[in-house]
Amino acid sequence: MEFRVLAIGDVVGETGLAHLERHLRSVQKLKSIDFTVVNGENASGVGLTPEQAERIYDAGADVITLGNHTFGRMQIADFLDDAPYILRPANFTGRAPGRGWAVYDRGNVTVRVVNLIGRCDLNFNAENPFTTMDRILERQQADFTLLDFHAEATSEKLAMGYYLDGRVSAMWGTHTHVPTADERVFPKGTGYLTDLGMTGAIESVLGIRPEQSIETFLGGLPGRYQTPKGPCKMQGAVFALNSDTGLCEAVERLDIR
Ligand code: FE2
Repeated sequence: MEFRVLAIGDVVGETGLAHLERHLRSVQKLKSIDFTVVNGENASGVGLTPEQAERIYDAGADVITLGNHTFGRMQIADFLDDAPYILRPANFTGRAPGRGWAVYDRGNVTVRVVNLIGRCDLNFNAENPFTTMDRILERQQADFTLLDFHAEATSEKLAMGYYLDGRVSAMWGTHTHVPTADERVFPKGTGYLTDLGMTGAIESVLGIRPEQSIETFLGGLPGRYQTPKGPCKMQGAVFALNSDTGLCEAVERLDIR
């Protein structure tokens, strides 16, 4: 049996959220999707509120993953403990609220989803994501394992892909908001993509008004980040998994405008 997973790149701001709400269900139908993971850490620009988490869930996400902006909106902190469908990076230190991984029972299959944060150019005092993943894989069995590795460096993400090859069903990267063209199945059967891209305004710098980003690089004061209106994209990937092997057979990149 085939089990089809859809992973959606960082949803940025109200524009991105509205675009997700408009398109996610029809893409799920079109691509016969069984399970959907959405990165939601930029729903507020930086962070997400409980209301935004509920909107992403209602739009069709089975799981919402986060990253460096997990606590950008502090009202999410208590909500993380109450909402089992939201994951923050598992390698945050032990004092962080919420959970970093979970096994979801879908009747005929179990799906383990893990969220990790990288350590290159991201200073979060995080534990080693590689050894954290080893420990998680030992804890509980599941038919499929999915990993959203929220990281800056392509090298760190690729190294993780090879490290986990054959041990997880699929791994993808988030955080850079720029999709990479290296979707593939690794030699031992793990589906992989270095970065999914983002969901939000096309005419933007990573989802933010270009003028504000330019002002930052000129050394000025950009003001509070705003997401531009206008046409949007929803970027991500579909991983076709095999329930006999628990591994991946094909990866397809998506860019829904
Ligand atoms: Fe991020």
